[in-house]
Amino acid sequence: MAIHTVLVTGGAGYIGSHACVELLEAGFNVVVVDNLSNSNPESLARVQKLTGKSLAFYEVDIRDKQSLSDIFVKEMPDTVVHFAGLKAVGESCEQPHLYYHNNVFGTLVLTEVMQAHQVKQLVFSSSATVYGITDKTQYSEDLPIGAINPYGRSKAMVEDILRDLAEADKIAKPDKPWKIALLRYFNPIGAHESGLIGEDPNGTPNNLMPYVAQVAIGKLPQLSVFGDDYPTHDGTGIRDYIHVIDLVKGHIKAIHAFNNAHFVEGNCKAYNLGAGRGYSVLEIIKKFEEVTGKTINYKIAPRRPGDLAEYFANPELALQELNWKVEKTLHDMVADTWNWQSKNPQGYR
Ligand SMILES: NC(=O)c1ccc[n+]([C@@H]2O[C@H](COP(=O)([O-])OP(=O)(O)OC[C@H]3O[C@@H](n4cnc5c(N)ncnc54)[C@H](O)[C@@H]3O)[C@@H](O)[C@H]2O)c1
Repeated sequence: MAIHTVLVTGGAGYIGSHACVELLEAGFNVVVVDNLSNSNPESLARVQKLTGKSLAFYEVDIRDKQSLSDIFVKEMPDTVVHFAGLKAVGESCEQPHLYYHNNVFGTLVLTEVMQAHQVKQLVFSSSATVYGITDKTQYSEDLPIGAINPYGRSKAMVEDILRDLAEADKIAKPDKPWKIALLRYFNPIGAHESGLIGEDPNGTPNNLMPYVAQVAIGKLPQLSVFGDDYPTHDGTGIRDYIHVIDLVKGHIKAIHAFNNAHFVEGNCKAYNLGAGRGYSVLEIIKKFEEVTGKTINYKIAPRRPGDLAEYFANPELALQELNWKVEKTLHDMVADTWNWQSKNPQGYR
């Protein structure tokens, strides 16, 4: 097989750094473009240490069209995996312009550069937040899109743009059409089992798992559990947690799938990447206590506006068309989070 070069935007971040490990181990050349707005280049040093392989790194903002174009000329990637983006829902409500500029305009620039260099294979980090409010708890890809905050809408807008691009090419360029996988992540947690790379949030974490880990290590005093009166078995919210290694393996499967029947026609397809089952906040806390032997100090707080009681993925399509499903357990997710957190109490700093 010819060696392929994959350009990874946002490759220094949490999910991107884990993807770099899997891509290098699968034999791809890796080129990272990251502006380090939410990451530390130490992650990439560790990726190289871990794999014994080197990658190319450019500290560049994807909105810088000329610099991005120069990288395409020099590195000649054939595929792009696009993680670069801002991801905090609360911040997106306070600063919508920042989110649309970074996530939507950034993707426009990236795809313009890709098109100009005839690089037309793209894996995009979408999110389960694109789904609208529904009475269903299990989300399939055909549910209506209807994100309820600027972050989610930025992902939904990018999905629309990418679908339009692929559709236009079906007529204009049937010989070399776009092939685009929109991967809708549920709740990625965990870390590489080596404990060398993991999630290193700036400031106070927005997500449950890094918050629990920082309470366990003593960096944060107490966890707030938002709502214990939801119609779930223990009253707390249920989410579909997925190990970051399972998640990034889905990206490799998507790249391989670009050569199979689902993509030969020139296509843009959405796939849920989730486990297909959920865990409640209290189940996560209990498992964390069991695995680490630490007591998690938590209090029950009022529900947060916009939070849903329960949702989880229907991951059937990814199984059928990408040959992908999760392999790791909740125990793995918790143990690997703790391994990373306890070995790196200050993250990469
Ligand atoms: N972590 C989650 O829970 C989650 C869930 C669903 C979707 N996603 C999406 O997955 C992607 C990766 O998420 P993550 O958790 O690894 O986040 P992250 O913040 O750790 O990684 C994103 C990376 O992109 C970089 N970046 C941001 N804007 C950039 C720009 N304009 N130019 C170049 N680099 C830029 C950041 O510096 C960072 O290294 C994001 O697009 C996010 O929206 C994440």
